[in-house]
Amino acid sequence: MMTLYLIILLKFMVLCDAANILYSVPFTSKSHDIFFRPIGVELARRGHNVTVLTAFEIPDPPANYHQIVIEKKELWDLLGTERPNVFTTIEMRATDFMDKILYDGGVAFTDYLLSTPEIQDFLAKDNKFDLIVSETFLVEALYMLAHKYNAPLVLVTAFGNCMRHNAIVGNPLQLATILYEFVPIEDPTSFLGRLKNLYISVYDYVSWRYLYLPKQETLVKKYIPDLPEPVPSLYDLQKNASLLLINSHFSVDTPMAYLPNIIEIGGIHANWYNETLPKDLEKVLNESKNGVIYVNFGSNVRSSELPEDKKRAFLNVFKRLKHTVLWKWEEDNLADKPPNVIIRKWFPQRKILAHPNVKLFIGHGGLMSTQEAIYHGVPIVGMPIYADQYNNLLLIEQAGFGLILKYENIDESVLYKTMNTILSNDAYLRKAKEVAIRFKDRPMNGLDTATFWIEYVMRNNGADYMKSPTANMHWIVYNMLDVYAFLVFICIAFVYISLKIVNALIKMACALRIGEDKKNV
Ligand SMILES: *[C@@H]1O[C@H](CO)[C@@H](O)[C@H](O)[C@H]1NC(C)=O
Repeated sequence: MMTLYLIILLKFMVLCDAANILYSVPFTSKSHDIFFRPIGVELARRGHNVTVLTAFEIPDPPANYHQIVIEKKELWDLLGTERPNVFTTIEMRATDFMDKILYDGGVAFTDYLLSTPEIQDFLAKDNKFDLIVSETFLVEALYMLAHKYNAPLVLVTAFGNCMRHNAIVGNPLQLATILYEFVPIEDPTSFLGRLKNLYISVYDYVSWRYLYLPKQETLVKKYIPDLPEPVPSLYDLQKNASLLLINSHFSVDTPMAYLPNIIEIGGIHANWYNETLPKDLEKVLNESKNGVIYVNFGSNVRSSELPEDKKRAFLNVFKRLKHTVLWKWEEDNLADKPPNVIIRKWFPQRKILAHPNVKLFIGHGGLMSTQEAIYHGVPIVGMPIYADQYNNLLLIEQAGFGLILKYENIDESVLYKTMNTILSNDAYLRKAKEVAIRFKDRPMNGLDTATFWIEYVMRNNGADYMKSPTANMHWIVYNMLDVYAFLVFICIAFVYISLKIVNALIKMACALRIGEDKKNV
């Protein structure tokens, strides 16, 4: 009876609080979708009417989860180039990566996205939303939907803590410890490391704000008609966001000072998916006496595109090991495959990492898979290729449960030495288990934290009081430069006047002296 009463009460509460939420996560990156999906589905599970803009349709969604599905397009298709072998991006300069891939790609993608019939039909409808939840990456024009529907804006990002997010919502930049995410900085706190971080941060801020955002605004004008006047800038909309959910956690990321409306929800995807482990794989995992090494470079970086010499190095090292190796290999065959190596085009990654026989994960340092390995306590050898991968791995190396494998240095001896360092020394595995425990040691898990704060923002009508007042300040005022300038002026004036007085006194003294001297003559 009591339970029934409770259920009815709960149901009633859910109905009362149910809101219309627009969940805008249309960027066609598979790894980002892995991170975003749990939030949208969980909001629906809690009774909200969720409309999601996505490129990844889920089968059998809940009745109150409405998917507007955009056809997947790869950036290089939109940019009119061929799909590059991702290993070649290693040689690309960071500024070129930003300009040519991120920013040109972002404009091309948003242009494509807003022109699709799915989005145009959606915009033409007379929808009402209580909240807009939007991803932050390369689809900034869609922030305008918060203005269109006159609803608070929540931002969510699949990236970890970094300079960019601080700049977005007016959090202190903390450039001495918090890195710009897309540039490898080997020694972040050294003088040169900080100089490089400042340079790249300023470079990116200027190109993002003054070259890229205006292009996104052009797309707003082109595709989102009939906006209520006055139309705010995307920059202002973003600064005014009620909440920023970021994919990090201080137990594994660099701790930093956050405004109350920046919330760390790192790792929400790590145990959310209900993957099934095929029987044959389960048998392999259970029965491999010497442990299993799992190799997967993610969805963008394909092992089968490795140049011949690097591929040979991997094969030769695997051949020397007693372990079973599971290798995500995107082709049907792998010539000279040693008997202890099993290739598949796809593995249920989280299920494999969760298996106690897995002793080492060889990956590329992508944030999603890295967090999955952290969550399940598996040491990592990471071969960073682009974007935030190097910096993700640097934290892991510093924490003592992984090593960075520089792509350009890979040969048989380097690879063997790196893997063997971890396989022959228990300390790495022990550290990984320890970090896994602290990664999960929180008052609420990441997903409950995310939904709590999203609902909090709605309960409190956008929670304006959580936003930093600095959003409306001039940067000179925010940085206290006017006050410092005033104090410096006072100091200079004081020194100047003092010098003048001393000078005058000396002159007077001299004059007296001369007078006396004259008398004495
Ligand atoms: C839920 O959202 C859809 C738009 O995706 C809308 O058509 C429908 O009316 C909404 N339902 C309620 C109960 O508000």
